[in-house]
Amino acid sequence: MSHPLTLDLTGLTSAVLGDHGPSDAEIRAFAPAARDALATILARRDKGELGFFGLPDDRAAARACLDYARALPPAVDTMVVLGIGGSSLGPRALYSALARPMDALRPRSPGMPRRLLFPDNADPVTMRAVLEVCDPERTVWNVVTKSGGTAETAAQLLVVAEHLERALGARARDRIVATTDPEGGALRATARARGWKTFDIPPNVGGRFSVLSPVGLLPAAVAGLDVMGLLDGARAMRDRCLADDPATNPALLLASMLHHHHVVRGRPMVVLMAYVDALFDTADWFRQLWAESLGKEKATDGTVVETGPTPIAARGATDQHSQLQLYVEGPRDKVVLMLTARQRETEVVIPDGELTKSRDEYRYLGGRGMGVLLDAELRGTIGSLAKRRRPVGTVELARVDAASLGALLVLLECATAYAGPLYGVDPFDQPGVEEAKRLAYAALGRTGFEELAKDLPPTVGKGPYVL
Ligand code: PA5
Repeated sequence: MSHPLTLDLTGLTSAVLGDHGPSDAEIRAFAPAARDALATILARRDKGELGFFGLPDDRAAARACLDYARALPPAVDTMVVLGIGGSSLGPRALYSALARPMDALRPRSPGMPRRLLFPDNADPVTMRAVLEVCDPERTVWNVVTKSGGTAETAAQLLVVAEHLERALGARARDRIVATTDPEGGALRATARARGWKTFDIPPNVGGRFSVLSPVGLLPAAVAGLDVMGLLDGARAMRDRCLADDPATNPALLLASMLHHHHVVRGRPMVVLMAYVDALFDTADWFRQLWAESLGKEKATDGTVVETGPTPIAARGATDQHSQLQLYVEGPRDKVVLMLTARQRETEVVIPDGELTKSRDEYRYLGGRGMGVLLDAELRGTIGSLAKRRRPVGTVELARVDAASLGALLVLLECATAYAGPLYGVDPFDQPGVEEAKRLAYAALGRTGFEELAKDLPPTVGKGPYVL
């Protein structure tokens, strides 16, 4: 049966790496721990704690997003997503992968898909620019926050709400939509009080696992992306990722293999290197997923472990000219996963004219596609890594479409979930992130957080080594 996604981890094994990778017998020995990890996660799912498994089945949520998009006035040509972390990286990955490249930069014309903008950070320079380029009459602002109170998102919301009220008066109400917890949090309360349209993030779905909830689906629907295709691909992959044998479950094999390379062979770094520009933001989304889920001070039994792998997002061929030297010859502490697509959406053929023929340095390129060049660069990179017995695997999409992307996202979510018990940690909490949020509140003098101010570092210029 052909799948929209093929995972090839042969380059992580002794078949390619010799003594630097696990043998068939070692891989077979992964099975009991992998089964235990799966059972731990599925037991939590069955208790209703892990809603991300069920998101591909939630057609009603998808339909509500599509209905909202259809009902938007034709004059609205832009949605700005106000959110950070899991509330922004997922929708941005969907948009980068599935929308026409550079769409946000094309001159606006009737009938074009709506563009999405992701200021993401609370950088005032970016925020000022977003306010300048977005006509209040033509823009909707989607405020996304699971907790409802993240400072960066709250700041964006407060700035935008006042800006719109000044520009549109009472009509500002129709230009703000809130995506948040169904009951709790400041955003839910504010949305109720102001009469803003709302979408729910299921209570049992955390930020970095929320891409297939309205967090990702609403912006995707507004941009005219194939929301149902995304869920179809996700559902098919989710079902594959429930098999209890790493030989047939791609997420379980990926999690086991990366965990083995880390804890047995000393390779804590995982590079996800996209050889398709459209997938770079998916690699960036994975960077958060893998890091925030698995980097933990304490194991689930309370012992201090200070463990976790380090994910790196890279772009091929660009990073061949930036990072590859390190990956090929530096410390043997990395596993590289190439992210690519069998079929590219379009090809640009390099002309075979007089200029091309004028020099040896150009001649071999004549009549070839730029995609062919990129594929050759990919093969060359895999070759140089494998030749030095450096682990390199491939995640290949049949093409970059909604179904393949849905499959990819769920593969990486399930692999992350299963890696949690392999590392002995809870992949669904983020105490370190929450502590940093509380310290930022203390730094801003928020009531109730005064005690924490003592944990803040001195301001720059006060320490003993100031030069
Ligand atoms: O994955 C997570 O839980 C975090 O990265 C959150 O998404 C991020 O901190 C933003 O939180 P919130 O959606 O509550 O504003």
